[in-house]
Amino acid sequence: MSNATRREFLQSALAGGIGAFCLPANAQPTLTNIGPSGVPISISALPIPEVKFPVPVSATEENILGPYYRELAPYRAKVTPPLEPGQSLLIRGRVWDFAAKKPLSGVVLDVWQANSKGSYDNDNPKSPPASGLFHNRARMITDESGYYEFETIHPGAYQIGPEAWRPPHIHFMVRQAGFKKLVTQMYFLGDKLNKPDQFFLPSLAVAIKELKVGKEKVELGWFDIVLQKE
Ligand SMILES: [Fe+2]
Repeated sequence: MSNATRREFLQSALAGGIGAFCLPANAQPTLTNIGPSGVPISISALPIPEVKFPVPVSATEENILGPYYRELAPYRAKVTPPLEPGQSLLIRGRVWDFAAKKPLSGVVLDVWQANSKGSYDNDNPKSPPASGLFHNRARMITDESGYYEFETIHPGAYQIGPEAWRPPHIHFMVRQAGFKKLVTQMYFLGDKLNKPDQFFLPSLAVAIKELKVGKEKVELGWFDIVLQKE
């Protein structure tokens, strides 16, 4: 799907109301971040793995909300604004019903993260963001196979104490009627800051694959989320 086509799709979906805002399973990523060498990256569609319940079978663990959540982020599949500096990253996954072991469609995922330098758009009280501006934040809705994906950049680590750092992570708030709201975080497997972090949970660490696009590198991660009924 080209940028123009995706834009048209989003506009028509928005015109039909939020209920219509559901990317089809074959929606294609449109990574257009600036790569390390300053060249915009664009990749074509990647095959989406088959629908298969994640093993080991367990509900996704909760993790702290943290101080930087903001409500009402826009619905979009690109978390970062155009040409955001940083390592391009594509996160994909499915949301599952723990009891039924089936994918859940229509789930709202609220995602927020730091930029490549470890800053959130609302972490400086002296320069708060405008109410309608959401930098590195987005909401999205799972499709008919429980699938979601978003484009972003690899978040930076940030310091929370004299010798304490939060490792790179992406915050998730996942909501579906009839299920417990899940607040959690996704981490990057192998990051050296994971182990000393007091909030890190190994079950939330995702293996990252690297894809070469010309001279540029795109990171790919798959993060399945399993919800429990209320
Ligand atoms: Fe955070």
